[in-house]
Amino acid sequence: MNTKQTIAIIGASGNMGSAISKSLSKGNNRLLLFANEKEKAEAVVKDIKSGNAAADVEALECPTDASWEADVIILAVPFQAEKELAEKIREVANQKIVISIANPLNATFNGMVTATDTSAAEELQKLLPNSKVVKAFNTTFAADFSTPVIDGKQADAFVAGNDEEAVNTVSELVKTAGFNPIVAGDLSVSRTLENMQLLLIQLGMKYHYNWLAGWKILHN
Ligand SMILES: NC(=O)c1ccc[n+]([C@@H]2O[C@H](COP(=O)([O-])OP(=O)(O)OC[C@H]3O[C@@H](n4cnc5c(N)ncnc54)[C@H](OP(=O)(O)O)[C@@H]3O)[C@@H](O)[C@H]2O)c1
Repeated sequence: MNTKQTIAIIGASGNMGSAISKSLSKGNNRLLLFANEKEKAEAVVKDIKSGNAAADVEALECPTDASWEADVIILAVPFQAEKELAEKIREVANQKIVISIANPLNATFNGMVTATDTSAAEELQKLLPNSKVVKAFNTTFAADFSTPVIDGKQADAFVAGNDEEAVNTVSELVKTAGFNPIVAGDLSVSRTLENMQLLLIQLGMKYHYNWLAGWKILHN
């Protein structure tokens, strides 16, 4: 059995934070959940434990404490909140893996708030220069996590980053969550991954996919 990892999930009360927490509680992980309101993180802990009493999960009151204890930090918050959180975790996230799941969409979902020559993940890496930022879980809808199978096929989930070991670690987490990890490239590939989800969201709104949609690469 692989060594137990401690994972901090910041924004654990949100759609993605709670879905990721639930799915990673099935693996050999210790989860530290942070939400702005501790009661909301405690509700997620209760929900997880109601299905798996042995799950190693607890709610913490401070994102810095949760990140200090963690091997891997997941920022499950809106892109706009990352700057403020980066200030709080910068020192304690030194040399650690930080997962960027954000899609920096504008308010009308017809574009990004980031410039075309960057991505949310690359902007986070600039804010956390001593951390290993990895892009993951941005192409999976929160609703997909309960059954990561679309049209009878295991959904793919793309991973991108500059540090090979960190990318491999995150790929294992993606697998634990039930998705098929595909390593897409270095961190700059996040530009494409974030735009892929913009397209999926736009198509979802146009054709009413009910937020149950995902990616599957078909090949010989
Ligand atoms: N929803 C999806 O299907 C999906 C799919 C792929 C990627 N994403 C990305 O995942 C991220 C979260 O999306 P979501 O849909 O889960 O949003 P959400 O349901 O609104 O949850 C956002 C979470 O972030 C917390 N938060 C907001 N500002 C914060 C701050 N300054 N400090 C600490 N926590 C803060 C919120 O806490 P409060 O409730 O206390 O405000 C909440 O727990 C976004 O970057 C989004 O682009 C979403």
